[in-house]
Amino acid sequence: MSHRLDKSAKVISKMFTSLAPRYDLMNDVMTGFTHRKTRKFAIGLLQKKKIKRFLDLASGTGDFTFLASATLKSDAKIIGCDFSNGMLVIAQQRMLLLKSNGAISIPELINSDISYLPFSNEIFDTCSIIYGLRNVNDPLLVLSEINRVTNSEGNLIIVESKIPQNPIVRMLISFYFKKIVPKIASLFSSNVKAYDYYFKSVEQFNAPIEMYRLLKKARWKRVISYRLLFDTVIIYNAFKP
Ligand SMILES: C[S@@+](CC[C@H](N)C(=O)[O-])C[C@H]1O[C@@H](n2cnc3c(N)ncnc32)[C@H](O)[C@@H]1O
Repeated sequence: MSHRLDKSAKVISKMFTSLAPRYDLMNDVMTGFTHRKTRKFAIGLLQKKKIKRFLDLASGTGDFTFLASATLKSDAKIIGCDFSNGMLVIAQQRMLLLKSNGAISIPELINSDISYLPFSNEIFDTCSIIYGLRNVNDPLLVLSEINRVTNSEGNLIIVESKIPQNPIVRMLISFYFKKIVPKIASLFSSNVKAYDYYFKSVEQFNAPIEMYRLLKKARWKRVISYRLLFDTVIIYNAFKP
């Protein structure tokens, strides 16, 4: 097991800002577009009619935020929240494109550390954090903070990468990330080292059993999980009631 990664706000926001210009392209190439399937699955979990206020945390370049705005009712208030200026700049550019194409529901983007959310208690119907939780310094603090801003009927959708249990799939994934991804990153990304961080952060992230414990501790009462893509992705749908 590798040494504990530095996940301080300064280090993480700087790393994602350096990745931002090629982040979406790398996501497509590195995952062979499968991340889109995962996002679609997660969007399918939204209770569309009930959602008036939706918060996407660690929203990055806005992939999931924009998917939500294309899916939810046009009068739903949608907010994306991230602390990397570079990721937010790309999200703003994508938003301008949406506006010029005449999209009705335009999300708001906020620059904030998600460990301390600038919102009052219980105002969101649903929150999401997509490939974001493993990058935060204190997941329990973040999960508790999200619980605070979610209303008493609300839920939280978490999507994370995962090291699969099957030893053969595990070996293949490890080979892919250690040997192939650095080569892909050297062609497409502006920060090759960040993809070393990516694999280590997935390896070190909490196992599902630990995630259930953290979610309970952060006052999420009921949790349903789904394993996708040969157990390389896990989705948690955590409910307050
Ligand atoms: C792997 S990207 C995921 C982006 C997006 N959710 C997606 O699905 O593509 C992780 C994002 O989390 C953001 N992030 C990590 N820790 C954060 C924190 N404490 N507060 C705000 N944003 C954070 C990073 O800036 C980055 O944009």
